[in-house]
Amino acid sequence: MTVHKILAFPSLIMGFDLKGAYDPDELTDVAVVPHALMGNAQPGDGSSSGEGSNYLHTRPETKRMLQNCVDEYTNTMSQETLAIANSWINRASQGTYTNVHRHEGSVISGAFYPKVEGEGSSPLILHTPLAAHTFNTFYTHDNDLNASYCQVPANQGMLWLFPSWLNHHTEPTQTHSRWVVSFNTYPRERYTPTNLDTL
Ligand SMILES: [Fe+2]
Repeated sequence: MTVHKILAFPSLIMGFDLKGAYDPDELTDVAVVPHALMGNAQPGDGSSSGEGSNYLHTRPETKRMLQNCVDEYTNTMSQETLAIANSWINRASQGTYTNVHRHEGSVISGAFYPKVEGEGSSPLILHTPLAAHTFNTFYTHDNDLNASYCQVPANQGMLWLFPSWLNHHTEPTQTHSRWVVSFNTYPRERYTPTNLDTL
């Protein structure tokens, strides 16, 4: 008997270890302000953000490095070319977290951790999109086929790319300080260069 297993309708989450490819101090040498609710974080939760929504525009080398990863993602998915547009940086202090959210209007989103100080970095937790469509299924234990969450390590140097419609959140981090650069992407052919390249 031959058994066929088909993993249908997967959600691709890609991780890139970029340690050594950039200068952590240079990327985090930014003024931060009280959190501006980017990513639905709670006001007053101790996080902070810097430079509005065009953080990568002033760092073309970093933007190119991240864009190469986006290209690898879209090549893997046979998706049309996507361009990084709006981006922002946050610094999470110890005990802070991000509520469940997704990135409306974007195609795939990125979370890049250029600098993590201290131990106990809480993972990035992505939620299954299938929960809204399934019920009455009880599992005896978790495995890759039935997991409700996918936890990926938020370690220094890691970039995670995922579909923007995937809900995600973080639990309180135990790190002293954790910087994350977040960004969204849009189909390049559908926007004028002016719209994308000034962000
Ligand atoms: Fe996010």
